[in-house]
Amino acid sequence: MTMTGEQPWSEFWQGETDEASVASRRASTAFASLWREWSTELFEQQSAPVILDAACGAGSVSREVIAAAQQADPVIVSVDIAYSALKKLEDAPVLRATADAAALPFAEGSFDAIASQYGVEYAGQEALEALPALLAPHGRIRVLAHITDGAVAQECSDNLTVLHSLRERELIQRVSELFQALRGLRPDLESCDAAFRQVAQACGREVQTRACPASTYAQRLFQDCATVLQRNQAYDPKDMQLWFEGQAQSIEAYAARMSAMLSAALDRSQIEMVLQAWERHGMADCTVKPVYAAADDSPAAWRLDAVRRS
Ligand SMILES: C[S@@+](CC[C@H](N)C(=O)[O-])C[C@H]1O[C@@H](n2cnc3c(N)ncnc32)[C@H](O)[C@@H]1O
Repeated sequence: MTMTGEQPWSEFWQGETDEASVASRRASTAFASLWREWSTELFEQQSAPVILDAACGAGSVSREVIAAAQQADPVIVSVDIAYSALKKLEDAPVLRATADAAALPFAEGSFDAIASQYGVEYAGQEALEALPALLAPHGRIRVLAHITDGAVAQECSDNLTVLHSLRERELIQRVSELFQALRGLRPDLESCDAAFRQVAQACGREVQTRACPASTYAQRLFQDCATVLQRNQAYDPKDMQLWFEGQAQSIEAYAARMSAMLSAALDRSQIEMVLQAWERHGMADCTVKPVYAAADDSPAAWRLDAVRRS
């Protein structure tokens, strides 16, 4: 089973996983000052702009815009494909909408400003290219988009290697079989034990060679599996079946998100094509440059800026 589209993201924002909270914290700190400056400049020009935060996730950009507003009175429209992401913005003074960034349900010229951080590119390069149509005359846009060969892409790729190792070796399946054998629900205890040990060792080697979030996730999963096996008599096999299915699904969803991030990342020629499309769509002052998160020596994102002509 391969997950695509909205499903892996719904799972991501639904769970109170460390992965989601670390990602949100990271997203909200890495580029906070870029969004504050952008918003402050915007509010100097307009006191009540209508702003779109496209593919907003838990709203790290929306919240920076709110924090910069002070005397201004913006209308912020926060949109994401995953309803569970928008739930995280329940407490925020924003309008929320579930939508695919490939087909945003807004009329042309609806917004005075558009923001997107690691967002619209998930819907494809064409979705990024089409954004200017939603801007009113003099409206401005800033996009921070995934970049190929950058720090984030490298981390995604390491994560994916670890997750593939868990999937291809069917770790959860082996744990489930050993659990059943320990509970006397299948007769082949020795072979299940041997199969589990072999897989656990191979996955363990993969995990130890990579310092990435998926390795931390896998280590915790190993610990949980070890606890389940050691204390097998304490667990109801029906409940455990659901737990195993849930773990396998989480691995699948995590891998799907990492694949989506890698496919969303744009190289220099693709980002130039986006800017050329923006110029064709009436945008001026188009600029693109790589930006760095603190302490990284490879770029973390492309930063694109432009303003719509009158
Ligand atoms: C890496 S997160 C970034 C979230 C947020 N912009 C931030 O910086 O914290 C990517 C977000 O894009 C959303 N997403 C993925 N594909 C999408 C699509 N086709 N349309 C709209 N949102 C999408 C996901 O649900 C997720 O919330």
